[in-house]
Amino acid sequence: MNDTKHFSTGIKISAADLHALVCAIWRSAGSEEREAVLVADHLVQANLSGHDSHGVGMIPRYLRSLADGELTLNRHAKLVRDAGAVLTVEGGLAFGQVAAREAMDMGIERAKRLGICAVGLRNAHHIGRIGHWAEQCAEAGLVSFHFVNVAGDPLVAPFGGIDARFGTNPFCAAYPRRGKPPLVLDFATSRVAFGKTRVAYNKGVQLPEGCVIDHQGRPTTDPRVMHETPRGSLLTLGEFKGYGLAAMCEVFAGALSGGFTTHAETIVHSNAIINCMLSVILDPAAFDAPDADAEAEAFLAWVKASPLQQDAGEIQVPGEPELARRRERGDNGIPIDGTTWEQLLDAARQFAVAVPAVRSDQS
Ligand SMILES: NC(=O)c1ccc[n+]([C@@H]2O[C@H](COP(=O)([O-])OP(=O)(O)OC[C@H]3O[C@@H](n4cnc5c(N)ncnc54)[C@H](O)[C@@H]3O)[C@@H](O)[C@H]2O)c1
Repeated sequence: MNDTKHFSTGIKISAADLHALVCAIWRSAGSEEREAVLVADHLVQANLSGHDSHGVGMIPRYLRSLADGELTLNRHAKLVRDAGAVLTVEGGLAFGQVAAREAMDMGIERAKRLGICAVGLRNAHHIGRIGHWAEQCAEAGLVSFHFVNVAGDPLVAPFGGIDARFGTNPFCAAYPRRGKPPLVLDFATSRVAFGKTRVAYNKGVQLPEGCVIDHQGRPTTDPRVMHETPRGSLLTLGEFKGYGLAAMCEVFAGALSGGFTTHAETIVHSNAIINCMLSVILDPAAFDAPDADAEAEAFLAWVKASPLQQDAGEIQVPGEPELARRRERGDNGIPIDGTTWEQLLDAARQFAVAVPAVRSDQS
């Protein structure tokens, strides 16, 4: 055990220790206690859920955004238009972990009152794992779906194109279940999230085939094309279908919220990741559907009973892989690759924050 030693193979750390470290970094950087806790809750939960691309590895980039004046600490979401069941919320480059939470609080209150609420959140700094916001709605007993753009950050080529024209635009939908964790479908519309190319780049491993093309549009599995010049592009999932969903995310989130879409005039040339999100939040109790829960459960049991393909362990429903990861990482600790851990140590040193003892990751 050593708090400063370099672990080239990476480390394992408990969720509680990682949470305390993240809180301490943001408190020292200037965040109020609640903000530091919300950021730590979100990033550590992403790691616990297995989405390391959206976990604590984002901190170095957030710190660069802060230094560039592209992330504003201790700022809150601002309701700029209240049209009853439609709310427009300005993120004002606040921490996305704060602005999205507050925007969802507003939408949840309204959906409980009116049965439905559409919330357009614009210009928030990175709002991270979108499932976090869908889970917030589900905890309140509400269904939700979310369309997100990564405004001005072209990383993904359109179907048939060879250069990046829009972001990894995630889509997310959640359905609360009685006495059980919600169904949560939450994915980037690129074949892999950009952060996953960063994790592969940091680990020095190849990406699966069909995820990226180089700057001339040639298929490759080398994550360097996304992190070194000349830059390549990510590909969308499901060919034109994923491309179509990404386009709808761009327009719904970027245009309807009063934020911005990605085009030549709006390219963001800084480290900031700016998200806009259109969330539609529904109260299931507002439908004439007394059997909705039973129908949903009957369907889920039915699909899970499908005979398994060779080598398939089990049939899972959306959200189950994340639950399994949370159990496993909650018990055994969160693995952090060596490069990311070094970056976190740098951040801790920058703010004179004590680093907890960790163990080398042997897995
Ligand atoms: N804020 C942003 O700008 C931004 C941009 C892109 C992605 N993201 C986030 O990145 C995260 C990772 O995205 P991703 O595309 O890498 O996710 P992914 O490819 O791992 O897909 C995750 C989704 O697929 C489901 N799933 C996975 N395996 C399954 C199986 N075998 N059976 C049934 N369901 C299964 C999961 O439950 C989850 O809903 C997401 O949380 C997303 O919101 C955020």
